[in-house]
Amino acid sequence: MLRRLLFARYERQLNRVYRDRLASKGNTAQGVFWRSQSSQFARFDALLSLVHQLRGYQPTSIADIGCGYGALLDFIKRSSKFQHIEYWGVDINRAMIAACRQKFPHQPDIFSTGNRPSNIVDFCLFSGTFNLTHSDDPALWNDYIFACLDRCMTQTRYGLVLNLLCTPKAQIQKQIFYASRAAFVKRAEAHFGPTHAQSTQHVTGDVSFVITRKPL
Ligand SMILES: C[S@@+](CC[C@H](N)C(=O)[O-])C[C@H]1O[C@@H](n2cnc3c(N)ncnc32)[C@H](O)[C@@H]1O
Repeated sequence: MLRRLLFARYERQLNRVYRDRLASKGNTAQGVFWRSQSSQFARFDALLSLVHQLRGYQPTSIADIGCGYGALLDFIKRSSKFQHIEYWGVDINRAMIAACRQKFPHQPDIFSTGNRPSNIVDFCLFSGTFNLTHSDDPALWNDYIFACLDRCMTQTRYGLVLNLLCTPKAQIQKQIFYASRAAFVKRAEAHFGPTHAQSTQHVTGDVSFVITRKPL
């Protein structure tokens, strides 16, 4: 119970910070705290490529959890490689969802405020969703991440793809969470199922993970 309250407090704090950041920087990579659009897109490419490795060109639905202002949908629309992907966007921040609906006025219903998809999808995808934290306890933040992943895993057919910044030992520095890659894989395998990690190309320190709920 105490944990639930604490996790809800983390999300309230995150909501304030992301709302203010979007208001000051607008629909840009910097508006969701990325250094550049190229690092934002490199992360998208790495995560979607992991999905592609598992599903090929079969029609595949993904829920983008922590979709921000909808940059991933833009990326998908512009990329010939990912035209078979059906996209849903979810974010805890109402201002982000409002920005998505403004950006994609013909598809307002594919976006929703929340922390899990309301429909079953093939994969949930998280890009940068867990990097910023107001916790100062890496173990607790790790537990928060697993609680989020757990909730989303039940809404998927195949599993989860996500990225995290990683260092050999889990830590929080200047409100940024760094996971231990090995410990994260071990916990994900014990808790969910087969998990694969690979360094994200062109993004130093970032690791892309795929966690499957059952052998594909
Ligand atoms: C660093 S931004 C990344 C946005 C987007 N994925 C991108 O790369 O452009 C993180 C986003 O995740 C959202 N977020 C954080 N925790 C979340 C959670 N537990 N569930 C859903 N959204 C979350 C934030 O509101 C924010 O919009």
